[in-house]
Amino acid sequence: MNFPTNLKNQSLKKWVEEVAVLCKPDNVEWCNGSEEEYNHMWEMMVANGTAIKLDEQKRPNSYYVRSDPKDVARVEDRTFICSHIKDDAGPTNNWVNPAEMKRTLNGLFDGCMRGRTMYVIPFSMGPVGSHIAHIGVEITDSPYVVANMKIMTRMGAAVLDVLGADDHFVPCLHSVGMPLVDGKKDVPWPCNADNKYIVHFPEERAIMSYGSGYGGNALLGKKCLALRIASVMGKEGGWLAEHMLILGVEDPKGRKTYVAAAFPSSCGKTNFAMLVPPKEMEGWKITTIGDDIAWLKPGQDGRLYAINPEAGFFGVAPGTSMQSNPNSLVAIAKNSVFTNTGYTADGDVWWEGIGYDPPAKVTDWQGNDWVPGSGKLASHANARYTASASQCPSIDPDWENPNGVPISAFIFGGRRASVIPLIYESFSWDRGVYLAATMGSEMTAAAAGTIGQVRRDPFAMLPFCGYNMSDYIDHWLSFGRTILYPPRIYGVNWFHKDENGKFLWPGFGENMRVLKWIVERVHGEAMGLESPLGWIPRYEDLDWRGLDFSKPQYQQITAIHRDKWLNELLLQEKELFELHTRLPRELNAMHEVLLGTFARSPEVWNVA
Ligand code: OXD
Ligand code: MN
Repeated sequence: MNFPTNLKNQSLKKWVEEVAVLCKPDNVEWCNGSEEEYNHMWEMMVANGTAIKLDEQKRPNSYYVRSDPKDVARVEDRTFICSHIKDDAGPTNNWVNPAEMKRTLNGLFDGCMRGRTMYVIPFSMGPVGSHIAHIGVEITDSPYVVANMKIMTRMGAAVLDVLGADDHFVPCLHSVGMPLVDGKKDVPWPCNADNKYIVHFPEERAIMSYGSGYGGNALLGKKCLALRIASVMGKEGGWLAEHMLILGVEDPKGRKTYVAAAFPSSCGKTNFAMLVPPKEMEGWKITTIGDDIAWLKPGQDGRLYAINPEAGFFGVAPGTSMQSNPNSLVAIAKNSVFTNTGYTADGDVWWEGIGYDPPAKVTDWQGNDWVPGSGKLASHANARYTASASQCPSIDPDWENPNGVPISAFIFGGRRASVIPLIYESFSWDRGVYLAATMGSEMTAAAAGTIGQVRRDPFAMLPFCGYNMSDYIDHWLSFGRTILYPPRIYGVNWFHKDENGKFLWPGFGENMRVLKWIVERVHGEAMGLESPLGWIPRYEDLDWRGLDFSKPQYQQITAIHRDKWLNELLLQEKELFELHTRLPRELNAMHEVLLGTFARSPEVWNVA
């Protein structure tokens, strides 16, 4: 095998050789991360029918791809944490004994790349060389993965330059699971429709993924490395890997405050990360560091510093419009990839909620002519765009700062039609951990389950925590005690609905009003009322310039109803029960405190 001249790491050489022997590809190529290489991947994909080049005027240097209908999203039921001890994976993860899983996977990977090229992708999660960054190497037989990894990570030769002879890297082995044997012809989107495995070996810090070419199943730097494996590394190393966006709030005087926010999938994280404040709130500005993942490490000055380990956005396209997220529309205007959106006859893309009518002729994400009003979607609900973060107009000047940015507040929010108030500040770090540990979200199409039912999603990490969730909560409780300036913790809920299902809060840019209060609280400049749950802004504590939103309307979305909360506490208790084997005792104690508080609270608590 030919190795890159700047490869010093012996265990990487050995691993790649072993994988080639196992997977039996026709060729092995080391990716250098160049533009030529990127273009070459697309030329190949266009030639074999995987991709269509979009119109150069409308969408310069961009491509359209349709996946197999059986490969359209992350597969949580096929995702495994294979720790040596089952309890180390915990009750919220799928677990199989690692030796048994390796036997299964070695069988599947044997010869799985026949007829294909095996690509070796060295990549850095985080700016190359940053002390907060980590290196992974993905081996894949998918050129689509190579091209997307180029956008989503820092990949190629520069990474090998910084990977020392003995340095650790996370081996990430991926195959679409469709060898070209016995005269089998390739298809536009190869995958294994019925046999998928997304597997993590936390003690070895290794990842193996088989059978899917889509998103987080295949771009292994994202959910697999930057969350599941990194969460384990963080627990051991005294830091945090979180499913959080990071944004900067600049006030009219130019003061910058950074916050990190966790929301389950499909709760508008990307929109919030790129929020455009209402024009009446002159001088307030939001900048974006990241839209999905944060790595947070304590700094020497006692504050907590965060980086976005990713280099791009892999965002949900449907619903993205000039109204919901103008910054992301600019970010995807060129050099982007669109997967499973609709495709227009004039060589562009279209999706539901893009904010303008479809042109005369659209083909849907399955390649069929699409008829508006037919009841079918042109774009799959989980259709995605891939775009470089550097193209986002709101990107923060410090987004690649290797030292990260200091975080002053954590925000946790789910999609709840009632119960959870618009905004509240927890009384303490521990109460904030309780808030985050018990948060839930009503399910949408992205999560398997009954639509509308509340799924408990502690810290928005349920599908992404690489170890026992109770140990994770324990890590959070301890972590807050190790930093001199722990960020304040807030709960939010943008999704209140009235009895007709109409949203009560306008959301999007108007969320700036809540963010402003958070920033002012952090700096000791704003009032809040003590509610049964935490501090809640009075009506007059929020900036209402430019929004017609009355005090009764505000009371409706900040009221705390005792009966609803007794029911909520019962549901929370069920979750705590499921986590009980290793759950820190404080969680049950805080649950007790809340029961007591509500027993003494009025039927409805309202802001004054
Ligand atoms: C994502 C997710 O794709 O959370 O970011 O599902
Ligand atoms: Mn996510």
